[in-house]
Amino acid sequence: MRSSCSCAWLPFFNNTLSPEREDCLGFARDELALGLRGLGLSVPVSLNQTGDGEGFSIQADGEGWSVSGGEQGLLYGVYRLLIRLSGGLDPALPLTQPRFELRMINHWDNPSGLVERGYAGHSLFFSNGVFSYLPERVRLYARLLCSIGINTVCLNNVNVHTPADRFIMPEYLPELAKIASLFRPFGIRLLVAVDYSLPARFEPGTADPLDPAVQAWWKKTIDRVYQTIPDLRGFLIKADSESRPGPYLYGRDHAQGAKLLSVPLAKHGGILVWRCFVYNCKQDWRDTATDRPKAAYSNYTHLDGRFDANVILQIKYGPFDFQPREPLSPLLLAMPRTGKALEVQLAQEYTGQQIDLYYMPPQWEEMLADMKGANVRHICAVSNIGDDFNWTGHDLAQANLYAYGRMAWEGTACAARFGGEWIKLTYDLAMTEHDTLLDMLMDSREIYVQYTAPLGVCWMVTTQSHYGPQPEGYEYTAWGTYLRTTSDLLGTNRTETGTGFILQYPPAIQEKYADPAECDERLLLFFHRLPYTFRMRDGRTLIQRIYDDHFLGAARAGALTDRWMSLKGHIPEAVYAHALERFERQAANAREWRDIVNTYYFRYSRIQDERGRVIYE
Ligand code: GCU
Repeated sequence: MRSSCSCAWLPFFNNTLSPEREDCLGFARDELALGLRGLGLSVPVSLNQTGDGEGFSIQADGEGWSVSGGEQGLLYGVYRLLIRLSGGLDPALPLTQPRFELRMINHWDNPSGLVERGYAGHSLFFSNGVFSYLPERVRLYARLLCSIGINTVCLNNVNVHTPADRFIMPEYLPELAKIASLFRPFGIRLLVAVDYSLPARFEPGTADPLDPAVQAWWKKTIDRVYQTIPDLRGFLIKADSESRPGPYLYGRDHAQGAKLLSVPLAKHGGILVWRCFVYNCKQDWRDTATDRPKAAYSNYTHLDGRFDANVILQIKYGPFDFQPREPLSPLLLAMPRTGKALEVQLAQEYTGQQIDLYYMPPQWEEMLADMKGANVRHICAVSNIGDDFNWTGHDLAQANLYAYGRMAWEGTACAARFGGEWIKLTYDLAMTEHDTLLDMLMDSREIYVQYTAPLGVCWMVTTQSHYGPQPEGYEYTAWGTYLRTTSDLLGTNRTETGTGFILQYPPAIQEKYADPAECDERLLLFFHRLPYTFRMRDGRTLIQRIYDDHFLGAARAGALTDRWMSLKGHIPEAVYAHALERFERQAANAREWRDIVNTYYFRYSRIQDERGRVIYE
């Protein structure tokens, strides 16, 4: 269902937009005037164009302000000025430049209108196999993204389903061009997810990257794309991943495979974003030698230096797959001569599906700390947006998109600061209520981890849907996600004496995890296989800690409802009621997790809870 939408963190615009125009400076002026009017302010603001970069500064200027920057920087500066004025903050900012060059949102939208792992309604861009959208709404969305510094959007799913495979063919190019023009004034360029095997369905009859006919076909196709959309950012490829076709089908490696596209794209200034989510998804569960987290690193590190300069390897933050708590992917710390992007997932596939509250920046803080010094120059996020009235299903999930943009710009997650900014912009709360909401956001990730995934154990989710508990759902499947729990032991040994995954890290990180007695306890069972009676540092046994976490997490999840109820009358009623219903579902979900996971371990270990709470047989 299409509906109008909320203004999210830009309420002062009241859903009004400036007229479309090509002239960037003029557009920035229009947006500024509109925003100031919405804020009820008449301060003088001057815009000074200096150079053509993305950075900007804001300085006090007499009674008003002056914003300086390149064309794009000025627009970013205008939004930041409005945001700061609206949040009651001093707008002055010394020159600020983005930490990550490519700041991207990946939609997993299918032409059918369904969004893969989408929890906020249907696609904003497609339905029934065709481009179908409200131009106004797309522009409001582009403005939201631009206001937090996003510069690239991929509209279609990495799993390229028909007819999305033909988006780069003549019949769809005009449509793609039309939607690109809606994003353009906001400095956002489009990327298209492309099917690697496409030429096999045309004259070449194969997609072998070393076949000259295939090379000629891609060159011609890419030239034609750029004739229609000269500023297209480039292509995104998911190859040899979860049964998508790729160079391995032809006995070629991924450097050979990528060159096929990076060379013709480079001619037009285009980039190739190449996903590294490559692992054996047809593993035999009896095979204990293969350890899925090792896959990305093993598939790529030996290719360092062989990718063209316009190739960016897109690497999920964790070596598994967007789990609530994983260590950083070692591939992000490797390949110094290759362009790399960190990939996060705003869509809460494994983190509560926009029913359960899960504010992500605390997790990003952990990742960025481990990534310090690595040459990761780009960032992307799987979108949590759909055509729901509030954009993100759960109103509070907007905070993740806002904070993502801010993190992509600043390079630090600053969970509390970004959360506070978002609250101030979105709701009109007195200090006590503001603090209540901020504390809820800040606690949410740890609460979620407590009632779902103890100490780095992953994959206890319900198969396929990935919401709710099913501890052994994936145990005897081909996905490489085995727990292998027994009556004596739990966790996985990924140290040198186990799968050896730990050896993919630089020595300093290996040290952090190698010894169970010293290992960061939050990831203890990701790296170690231990007896239930293993002593945690606070003296509790491992099994007691697991029981305690689940009881505590479920209780805290329940208490979120009460904390939210204390905000009644302060949050707009419709938002309040909508979110309340989600908090109630979260509390029920947390109880399921608590009881099922506790029972799961109890049935294996037969060890009672020391505190005598109910654990079912
Ligand atoms: C996860 C997710 C899939 C998705 C894949 C990816 O496995 O469940 O829906 O296609 O990630 O990132 O490509």
